[in-house]
Amino acid sequence: MQEQKLNHESLAIMTCAAIIVAAGSGVRARRTSDAVAKQYVPLAGKAVLCRTIETFLTSDAIDLIVTVIAQEDLDLYKNAVAPLLQGKLAEQAQKKLRTSVRGGTTRQASVLCGLRALEKDSIDTVLVHDAARPFISHAILDRCRIALHSHKACLVAVPVTDTIKQATPEGRIQKTIDRSSLWAAQTPQAFAFDFIYDAHTRAAQQCAETFTDDAAVAEWAGAEVHIVEGDPTNIKLTNREDLDMADARLNSLQGSTSPLTDVRMGTGYDVHAFDAGDAVIIGGIQIPHDKKLKGHSDADVGLHAITDAILGAIADGDIGTHFPPSDPQWKGTASDLFLKDAVRRVRERNGKISNIDLTLICEAPKIGPHRPAMRQAIADICEISINRVSVKATTSERLGFTGRKEGIAAMASTCIQLPDRED
Ligand code: CTP
Ligand code: MG
Repeated sequence: MQEQKLNHESLAIMTCAAIIVAAGSGVRARRTSDAVAKQYVPLAGKAVLCRTIETFLTSDAIDLIVTVIAQEDLDLYKNAVAPLLQGKLAEQAQKKLRTSVRGGTTRQASVLCGLRALEKDSIDTVLVHDAARPFISHAILDRCRIALHSHKACLVAVPVTDTIKQATPEGRIQKTIDRSSLWAAQTPQAFAFDFIYDAHTRAAQQCAETFTDDAAVAEWAGAEVHIVEGDPTNIKLTNREDLDMADARLNSLQGSTSPLTDVRMGTGYDVHAFDAGDAVIIGGIQIPHDKKLKGHSDADVGLHAITDAILGAIADGDIGTHFPPSDPQWKGTASDLFLKDAVRRVRERNGKISNIDLTLICEAPKIGPHRPAMRQAIADICEISINRVSVKATTSERLGFTGRKEGIAAMASTCIQLPDRED
């Protein structure tokens, strides 16, 4: 397909809005059930959604942007777009970026919410894009905009390059499909506004089927959908591995100019005394023992030390500042709540936990057999790889309170990377 340049005279004739759908919960990409949805995960220090919106914001092809989000993600959204509203793109963001709108339970419903929000804007054309495709380029947006001069429904797609097989549910190949006429659909998908608004409205009212993309809605409404050349790099982040790969790719692209240059160290220390009981909770797991640890919360001495190390690295108080022991609501609380809160504070600053190193000091219980489970539990809570979590243990040669088996002490240190120095 021939590369065409965007003609600025033609831009003046047609207004073009973008709907960025970000109301999904990103279940397949979550490391743990309560992790944030993939569009809010930072990649090389910048949230996926921020990266996606930034490309639309800086494109001459786009006049207006509406982002569709889940009701419960409002704070995450505000945090993700804050760098755009405050940084060097503030003026453009002021002009182009609309207040976010709430989405629906399916992608199709979310797109309709975005279209409704644009109803009164006399928009000629609209591009619908998945927030989860942060590698969208200006070139693709330009190609969509040009294609809209001659087509009312366009789909960004790439030719299928893998050999495609049809198989039985048991995994037995039935046949090889000719791929020469097959395309993999991407987004944006671009339309004449009135056409797609009407098609989506009617599909929601009249059609039992749920469409996974807008081109399918357009096809259902009888339109001929025109293919616009996409880019194999314009991938949709679907699984956790996609996020990891995208993070690595962006970090390596940024190389030595990585924005996460503000490297912070933090240390934490905690002690809990033994009491009568039959199990202790350390490092997020329960270990059978002839005593328990005494404390206001679940007394997880390991997670407390890590929480303080993280808070220390970002100079944001300590565990007691945020969860005062005098407050009855934290009585018996599972300590992963404290640690998750500290991790959230790092994420809010678009930072990243590089590693965690925990040392437990006790004569008993024996930590060694539980070390893999502890490392995994801590990695899950912090949403980092287990390779970045170390758990060590030592006795104190029967000296002092730990030596007398009166309690357990824990020391933690962490390294955290924040974006370029703020001060
Ligand atoms: N989306 C949306 N509203 C929904 C569902 C999805 O706006 N109710 C958006 C997602 O935020 C994403 C895009 O549609 O940007 C593509 O969907 P998908 O990749 O399936 O994302 P999720 O539905 O969030 O992920 P999963 O299916 O793994 O839960
Ligand atoms: Mg989905």
